This record gives sequence, C-alpha cells and structure tokens, in this order.
Amino acid sequence: MNPIITSIHGKVVSGKQIGRTIGFPTANLYILSELPKLNYGVYGVIVNWKKERIPGIMNIGIRPTFNDGSEVSYEVHLLDFNNNIYHEEISVDIYFLVRNERIFKDSLELVKQIHSDISYVKGKFLFMDHSSEKDKNHFVSM
Ligand SMILES: Cc1cc2nc3c(=O)[nH]c(=O)nc-3n(C[C@H](O)[C@H](O)[C@H](O)COP(=O)(O)O)c2cc1C
Repeated sequence: MNPIITSIHGKVVSGKQIGRTIGFPTANLYILSELPKLNYGVYGVIVNWKKERIPGIMNIGIRPTFNDGSEVSYEVHLLDFNNNIYHEEISVDIYFLVRNERIFKDSLELVKQIHSDISYVKGKFLFMDHSSEKDKNHFVSM
C-alpha cells in the first residue's frame, strides 16, 4: 500500500446531522491523538475499526458552505459500509488529498462534488497495491 500522510485516532461522536440529509452519513471524530497539521480539505482515507480496514473519504475543515462558525471538524464518510460505529474508537490513515475545502453555492452543488470526490477516491484505492494486506480489507466497487 502507498505511504500514508499521517494517522489520527479518535472517537465517533454525533455531528450536526446535516450529513444524513445531504445523503452522506458521516462519522464525526473527536480527536484523541495529536491534531494533524493538514490543510482544510478532502482526503482519501482508510479507517481502522476493530480488525477491519474500511476505505473512506474525510473532510477536515470548517464547512464554509454552511457558515455556522463551527470549529474544525473531522468527518469521515465510509464507502460501501453500513455498520453503526457510533461511539466507537477508530484510527484513520490519511493517504492522499482529493481537493481543498471550499464554499459551494448550495448543498446540491456540494453533493454533486462529493459524488465526484467519491469516484476519484474509489479509483485511487482500486489501483493501490493491497497485496501486503489480506482478509481484513474492505474493497471498494465503482
Ligand atoms: C467528502 C466530503 C467533502 C466535503 N467537502 C466540503 C466542502 O468542500 N465545503 C463545505 O463547506 N463542506 C464540505 N463538507 C462538509 C459538509 O458540509 C458536512 O458533511 C455537512 O455539513 C454535514 O455535517 P454533519 O454530518 O455534522 O451534519 C464535506 C463533507 C464530506 C463528507
């Protein structure tokens, strides 16, 4: 597998719940490790939960589209995964930047962009070398 940028460890807590209404349920992280020094943006990640490794997409930032003055949030949307990991501790391996966080005209534009971000992340993970990791990986499908 390609080298990671960094890893963070945290607990899944509830967010403002807008994620569910825009169609992308996200696990909001309360960070227990050192805060990563990363630009606000969207990243391709793999979440380690119990013995599983689940591909995901993470937004780190202040969610400027909703302009609610909230502090920095760390949200992960897991790809092709439906288990409830609320209250669980996870670690997140951050592999690559997809794009910087930005302001969208409305939530519809944001949703369109997230669909394209997800395709990009799935494509990248499909082409990464998984040969050193067996069994515990969830693989993405396009
Ligand atoms: C993959 C992904 C990319 C995102 N990119 C942006 C972005 O560029 N700009 C922005 O304002 N919010 C972005 N968001 C944050 C959404 O605004 C956020 O998920 C929404 O406010 C719901 O938050 P909640 O689940 O805490 O309710 C992104 C979220 C995800 C999952």
